[in-house]
Amino acid sequence: MLGSWILLGFCFCLLFLIIRIQKPKNFPPGPRVVPIFGNLLQINLKNPLKDFEKLAERYGNIYSIYIGSRPAVVLHGLKTIKEALVIKSSDFSGRPQNSLVSHVTEGKGIIFADYGAPWKEHRRFALMTLRNFGLGKQSMENRILGELEHLIAKLEKHAGSTMSPQTLFHSAASNIISLVLFAIRFEYDDETLKIYIRLFTELTKIANGPWAMIYDMLPLLRPLPLPFKKAFDNFDTLKKMTRAMISKHIKTRVPGEPRDLVDCYLDELDKEVEGSSFDVEQLVRFILNLHAAGTDTTSNTLLTAFLYLMVHPDIQEKCQQEIDEVLEGKAQVTFDDRHNMPYIQAVIHESQRIADTVPLSVFHCTTADTQLMGYSIPKGTIIIPNLSSVLNEEGQWKFPHEFNPANFLNDQGQFVKPDAFTPFSAGPRTCLGEGLARMELFLILVTLLRRFKFVWPEDAGEPDFTPIYGITVTPKPYRMEVRLRQ
Ligand code: HEM
Ligand SMILES: *[C@@H]1O[C@H](CO)[C@@H](O)[C@H](O)[C@H]1NC(C)=O
Repeated sequence: MLGSWILLGFCFCLLFLIIRIQKPKNFPPGPRVVPIFGNLLQINLKNPLKDFEKLAERYGNIYSIYIGSRPAVVLHGLKTIKEALVIKSSDFSGRPQNSLVSHVTEGKGIIFADYGAPWKEHRRFALMTLRNFGLGKQSMENRILGELEHLIAKLEKHAGSTMSPQTLFHSAASNIISLVLFAIRFEYDDETLKIYIRLFTELTKIANGPWAMIYDMLPLLRPLPLPFKKAFDNFDTLKKMTRAMISKHIKTRVPGEPRDLVDCYLDELDKEVEGSSFDVEQLVRFILNLHAAGTDTTSNTLLTAFLYLMVHPDIQEKCQQEIDEVLEGKAQVTFDDRHNMPYIQAVIHESQRIADTVPLSVFHCTTADTQLMGYSIPKGTIIIPNLSSVLNEEGQWKFPHEFNPANFLNDQGQFVKPDAFTPFSAGPRTCLGEGLARMELFLILVTLLRRFKFVWPEDAGEPDFTPIYGITVTPKPYRMEVRLRQ
């Protein structure tokens, strides 16, 4: 018995020696690496935040961890992140390949596509189409205001009682991006809408959960029917749904008269540009990426904003005062009104700062051997920009650790945006939906605060601010009391 244990132990030691991980020369410091597992045994995979915090405290602005046998470098603070993502952007704008996410998305689309021509062409197309009004007669603003009428009707039904805003905000955000992509919206109790939202939220939680780590770490397990299969199944369902939507567009479109982003893409395909990366399979992933990215982010930010506005009724009232003054006699708010609403602007930005919706950004990857802060980082290293660390960095904010709109106001009460406001990340990979997201947040918050007062229900106990961790972070589910304002 003892003999076989010793033998087993001996074999393990031998195995460890053979496959010992050799850190590259002059690599950023980090905890000791265990073969096969990297640093994953030292980290609580279900909620790694506490362990990361300890590492960050110990090593400072740049440190390395191993995800299995793959080296990753975590970047902290504005200076380090800017140096990588902005100043050395061409070295730092790749996306990790050979991982669960890249296999699920097949490296296509835009979010997880590697740095190269197909990504660049799709990104340029998306930005241009979203910015210009290449989307039919309706402006982006009207699409959002149109959806708001449905949102208001739904909230009015709950006036005088309490309700849970979770699915409602996700539905509204999903509808707004649907209107842009497909020129359609769904009723809030529509099954298709519910399926989209469930699949999107599940995917963002699986994608950085423990099973994704195991998939990335142990390639031998990949063919087995383990829980990470769910990511592939979800994505297949989403692809089918999106393909069906695109087929309908192909049948009903009038070339040259685009109704929405899908039509614009089909027009682009008609041009048959030599060597273009545009094709129908790319279109499916591209549309799915925009749909997912536009749903879970904006809605989680809204959930955080309303949570804090209920907990700080004085701040909510001050918003309402400003709204009433500026919009007096006007039926509807316009995006231009933001220039006369410094306080609302400050509250929205402060909500985004506290919401910290995408805390570790989307992982980047080095595209060449490079240098950062005096360290050497080889090509193919995973880069994790810790955006949270910038959003509450000491020295960058007047009140880094509390919800306080003064973080975005100067002494004259004017709106100012510090450089450290980076919830959308920075550099060539920065969120391409920023314009849309900012318009949504402003129009939705102003319209809802003008019409309703939101109150933390008396029987709801103390608010719990601990977020639920994922690629996107969301507040713990809560209820709110909706009251009509006069
Ligand atoms: C409050 C809302 C939002 C937040 C906080 C947010 C945040 C982010 C962040 C942090 C990234 C990663 C950037 C990087 O890799 O460095 C990103 C990427 C992206 N976002 Fe957003 N986002 C929001 C809304 C949206 C919306 C509404 C859309 C849809 C139009 C969108 C589309 C995208 C796309 C396509 C990418 C990938 C860009 C690329 O890889 O080149 N996002 N977003
Ligand atoms: C990112 O920074 C925040 C705040 O400084 C810290 O709490 C968190 O643990 C860091 N995460 C990682 C992965 O280093």
